[in-house]
Amino acid sequence: MKRIVILISGRGSNLKAIVRACASEGWMARVVAVVSNRADAPGLEFARQHGIASAVVDHTGFDTRDSFDTELARVIDGFEPDVIALAGFMRILTDAFVARFEGRLINVHPSLLPAFTGLQTHRRAIEAGCKLAGATVHFVTPTLDHGPIIAQAVVPVLPDDTPHTLSARVLEREHLLYPLAVRWLVQDLLIRDGNVVTHRHGESQLLR
Ligand code: GAR
Repeated sequence: MKRIVILISGRGSNLKAIVRACASEGWMARVVAVVSNRADAPGLEFARQHGIASAVVDHTGFDTRDSFDTELARVIDGFEPDVIALAGFMRILTDAFVARFEGRLINVHPSLLPAFTGLQTHRRAIEAGCKLAGATVHFVTPTLDHGPIIAQAVVPVLPDDTPHTLSARVLEREHLLYPLAVRWLVQDLLIRDGNVVTHRHGESQLLR
């Protein structure tokens, strides 16, 4: 049974999507813990309601990124995870943290990477006149919002879109994309060759 730890900072809708898919699709895996850097993250309540262990490592209590990441890594290690999924975890991670969990650490980002790393992705996509937007699940590497792409989902950008309407359309796809990518990782279906990740059985890594 593979062990999944999910890191959140807020709402936790991707967390919910992963927990639900894991249960309803009968993965040989379990979400063993949810870790948040904010004590008031709504996703923590979902974890409690579903009998999932939770922990808070509040970044405001640490003087440096290094000391925060060291404690975060210690807490994560305690849950002995096979997969660590960042799901709206809004902290920049140190190289040491990333190196420690390399290959097990993945992230969902609300853009078609490598376009629009960082914040305000939907506003920036609209302002750039993009006709396509989407979400990316990728292995985490030291450079923010980079790293080998596991899967992407695309949605159209409509002429009257606002950041709000576009983000809702993208989020709906994230809720399919992220559980799919996590399942592939727990089932050892991903082959990584440098920057390129392929699916062992050639399943499409593009969700339309
Ligand atoms: C999601 O849209 C996710 O892609 C984004 O935060 C949101 C979290 O929502 N992540 C990032 O921007 C990371 N760079 P959720 O808490 O409801 O899952």
